Amino acid sequence: MSQPTIESILQENRLFHPSAAFSQNAHIKSLDDYHRLYEKAKTDPQTFWAELAATELHWFQNWDTVLDWQPPFAKWFVNGKLNISYNCLDRHLTTWRRNKAALIWEGEPGDSRTLTYAQLHREVCQFANALKHLGVQKGDRVGIYMPMIPEAAIAMLACARIGAAHTVVFGGFSAEALRDRLIDGEAKVVVTADGGWRKDAIVPLKEQVDKALAKGSVPSIAATLVVKRTGQEIQMQGDRDHWWHELQAHVSANCPAEPMDSEDLLFILYTSGSTGKPKGVVHTTGGYNLYTHITTKWIFDLQDTDVYWCTADVGWITGHSYIVYGPLSNGATTVMYEGAPRASNPGCFWDVIEKHGVNIFYTAPTAIRAFIKMGDEHPKARDLSSLRLLGTVGEPINPESWIWYQQIIGGGRCPIVDTWWQTETGGIMITALPGAIPTKPGSATLPFPGILAEVIDLDGNAVGANEGGYLAVRHPWPGMMRTVYGDPDRFRRTYWEHIPPKDGQYTYFAGDGARRDEDGYFWVMGRVDDVINVAGHRLGTMEIESALVSHPAVAEAAVVGKPDELKGQDIVAFVTLEGTYSASDELLKELKQHVVKEIGAIARPGEIRFADALPKTRSGKIMRRLLRDLVSGVEISGDTSTLEDRSVLEKLREG
Ligand code: WTA
Repeated sequence: MSQPTIESILQENRLFHPSAAFSQNAHIKSLDDYHRLYEKAKTDPQTFWAELAATELHWFQNWDTVLDWQPPFAKWFVNGKLNISYNCLDRHLTTWRRNKAALIWEGEPGDSRTLTYAQLHREVCQFANALKHLGVQKGDRVGIYMPMIPEAAIAMLACARIGAAHTVVFGGFSAEALRDRLIDGEAKVVVTADGGWRKDAIVPLKEQVDKALAKGSVPSIAATLVVKRTGQEIQMQGDRDHWWHELQAHVSANCPAEPMDSEDLLFILYTSGSTGKPKGVVHTTGGYNLYTHITTKWIFDLQDTDVYWCTADVGWITGHSYIVYGPLSNGATTVMYEGAPRASNPGCFWDVIEKHGVNIFYTAPTAIRAFIKMGDEHPKARDLSSLRLLGTVGEPINPESWIWYQQIIGGGRCPIVDTWWQTETGGIMITALPGAIPTKPGSATLPFPGILAEVIDLDGNAVGANEGGYLAVRHPWPGMMRTVYGDPDRFRRTYWEHIPPKDGQYTYFAGDGARRDEDGYFWVMGRVDDVINVAGHRLGTMEIESALVSHPAVAEAAVVGKPDELKGQDIVAFVTLEGTYSASDELLKELKQHVVKEIGAIARPGEIRFADALPKTRSGKIMRRLLRDLVSGVEISGDTSTLEDRSVLEKLREG
């Protein structure tokens, strides 16, 4: 029999079954097992989650109620006491895992470091004591603005250990964006580094922190804790700034984990939504610990000998849940990599896999597409035979990329888990369980046990097979966000009232479009709101528009996503200028740079188009939908009768 070609596989639309050998050794071994678990969780969710919480986690004190649901506010494991840092570290120290590698770190310039569970525990305790020394107490918030180095994970675990909530800000965000997040979270201390490596260059993180804190603009901040990474000269300010290595020499390595209430704040993570200001997504301790633990175990089918690598940055939810908390709670070996895919080092991911014998590999479609473009010779020149499972996250994966991933990286033998979830959901919601659920290229397949996911219309009714609709969840789950930090009303409005509650039944609205096929498989189509997904980074169009109009030359701005072969979507901005300004190449560059300054390089528009006017409704609302169609090169669809001045659109089309 001849090998099927990629074209024939695509035409066949065939199912990919896990091998018998994979299924036999997997935690969840068959479709029947999956269905049994799913039914059990659906019929009696409280017993399902309580049994897992009791067997999978260590509790200092048992809960008395599994779920207290006052829609849309949930409390899980009410009055239970635990500490996620204890579950990630201490409980492994009394087992053979004490000297197992907990964290393998690969630095951008080629340096590397391995920390065993005992060593990681020691560093976390010291870091926690350093934070205490700087005045951090249970209930405080700590900002973390770090490169991808072990101290980023250490700082998170240290906060959790003493009951301070962390708010990690991605190191690619600008000083302005950092400042906004620190102010909103009222952080007491910021943890940072002198610099970090990013695509062969140094990102001056401490300098950005100085800018963010300039002139006392974040009044809650008492101190910074600075890790030495890149070694260039930086300014240390008197009483405010402290070197980690100096404090480390003086602090004790004894720091018992604080017993936390199950519903105590664990972290805030800011994410983009439809309105201008990013939302502080709130996650609490018990439910998040359980949900990230069990999803990591079952979805990545963690075995004790596995080396597991998730390529995300700890600045995003994927890094929180699937580099740090989920894997460590399971006692796994987790890899952390400071580098990123780039043309100057086209084999970098494959080198890490070969060097550390990675067994489970979890990355994003945008990275896969970038590597496809760099050529098959790079992965083919490395030994990738250690791989046994592949995962993807962050955006829909196109079937061509899926097949390439399966064949070229997975050697045709590794199941692929395409995992759909969000910052808000805390952990993976729709995914294959690799030993149990056959996969289809481009589909995230079926919901995780306990997740009542559906595709519905705006009245809240399920749509039929293969009909388009909105992705929604019917029942609370332990990993769900609890609220928007400081704004419970926004939480209610954004997620739980899009679909009008009926008879006390609340439905979670995810903001994604989707369909289910005749087998019940989910096909996620992308955002239905004003959120765009650029190279797997989630950005609000309004955020970018606000950044643009804060420039004196800009009168009005409208930002839309344009389909992009590599990044999934690219940012296109339409701007009208204030009377005294005129369009020029210099201004164009200046505006792009202005967005970088306000938000960060991830938000730099690929294209800015100057316009005389923007298409608006008679009531003055910008019709972004028309601009979206325009930049996508498709026929303008839908109703245009509310458009105030049709000639505006004609002019834009002529360019
Ligand atoms: C998108 C990242 C299709 C989706 C974990 C979602 C996906 C948003 C997938 C959340 C997937 C994530 N297939 N789309 N497997 N995974 N998305 O908060 O639009 O950064 O709403 O969380 O990414 O992005 P966030």
